[in-house]
Amino acid sequence: MKIVTVCGTRPELIKLAPLVPELASRFDHTYLFTGQHYSPSMVQVFVDELQAPGPDVFLDVGSSDLDALQEATAQAFREIEPDVVLVYGDTNSTLAAAQAADSVGATVIHIEAGIRSFDRTMPEELNRVIVDGIAAIRLAPTGLATWFLEAFEGRDRVTSPAIGNLVVDAWKRHEDVVMSRPIPAAFGEAGRYAVMTLHRQATVDVPEVFGRALAELAAIDMPIFFPVHPRTAARVEEFGLTWPDNLRIAEPMGYFDFMRAMAGATILLTDSGGVQEEAISLDIPCVTLRPNTERMETVFLGANRLFDLERDRDLASVVTQAIASHPDRPYKLNPFGEGHAWARCVVLLELMAGREPSVEFPHEPGLADRSALRAAAEAIASGKG
Ligand code: UD1
Ligand code: UDP
Repeated sequence: MKIVTVCGTRPELIKLAPLVPELASRFDHTYLFTGQHYSPSMVQVFVDELQAPGPDVFLDVGSSDLDALQEATAQAFREIEPDVVLVYGDTNSTLAAAQAADSVGATVIHIEAGIRSFDRTMPEELNRVIVDGIAAIRLAPTGLATWFLEAFEGRDRVTSPAIGNLVVDAWKRHEDVVMSRPIPAAFGEAGRYAVMTLHRQATVDVPEVFGRALAELAAIDMPIFFPVHPRTAARVEEFGLTWPDNLRIAEPMGYFDFMRAMAGATILLTDSGGVQEEAISLDIPCVTLRPNTERMETVFLGANRLFDLERDRDLASVVTQAIASHPDRPYKLNPFGEGHAWARCVVLLELMAGREPSVEFPHEPGLADRSALRAAAEAIASGKG
């Protein structure tokens, strides 16, 4: 069974890093990088740090243009002739690869399937829904995502098992190394500090919303460390906006420094998906600067709250409340599992290849056990999906 895993952007590089070597050592496996992200601070730093093998195939597309991504990926698939293509998340690389895989008749497995913000103005939401429609197996991070797939989109539960999220696997693998590092110097001097990421199109591509965000941030009585995503850096210049004095602006950071900075922070402010998941994994309070989230589990558990930049006012008070109430939140469970998502992926693929599983993983409430993965593999073999 020939497997290709597709990756195109920073979060995919981070989340796929624990899985790719495990697949490479067990299968005829190709790691394909589309080149959607290309700056060294968005790509190479993660290849170097996370000990994942570099890509076997590098397409160098250099943009998020869907047609270009799909054409390049389809061309590569025609040469590789994969049986199974693994795609991750909700980027344009994910969608292009799923469509390209479908066009060559490969079985598509979507990892991080089923998460929904129910906001169809988000390009990522559209990408997720379409990819889940193409995929034969949808590996959901949580039971809620499985439920969304079944309840709202009529997808088969058996082929939509919950496996946890690879973001936790990445953190567990590197936690000791990260925590043995000092907090990066600029942060360590700060005492109480916030860490922020902002790059969502609905936030930074709309001058009024981006301007409102900066005005709200200026009122927070704390230094806010902000490694700036390239999209955001381009927009601040284009819109002629000025950073407030309490923002400490930096280049995008490597995973180790960024995780160390987050682990020492008083509060996290973000519109990123991965950072919301990491916040609950690190048990640091989080305010998500969006009207909605596809990671509602973090909100239910009191680890995250939403701030709608268009409607809500007084972010500083919301931040104060989030910090004050965080120690008393009722459930300190990680809905994304405890770091065994990679093992569930491996076991599923081994069962699909007709082999007995080579790895064990513990029982985790709400996540698939071996028999659920066997049922998914059998359903695919019998033509369901
Ligand atoms: C993309 C994903 C988004 C994901 C994010 C992760 C889509 C539609 N969006 O958004 O879901 O959360 O990646 O970070 O796929 N740029 C650089 N260097 C790079 C990459 C981008 O300078 O390495 C600049 C370019 O000016 C580019 C802009 O950033 O035009 C936006 O990049 P793009 O890949 O289109 O979208 P992201 O905002 O990165
Ligand atoms: N991240 C990083 N350095 C940074 C900012 C983010 O390593 O300067 C990591 C972060 O820990 C998380 C991932 O990048 O694992 C999130 O990626 P991003 O916010 O770009 O995308 P999203 O998760 O929103 O799709």
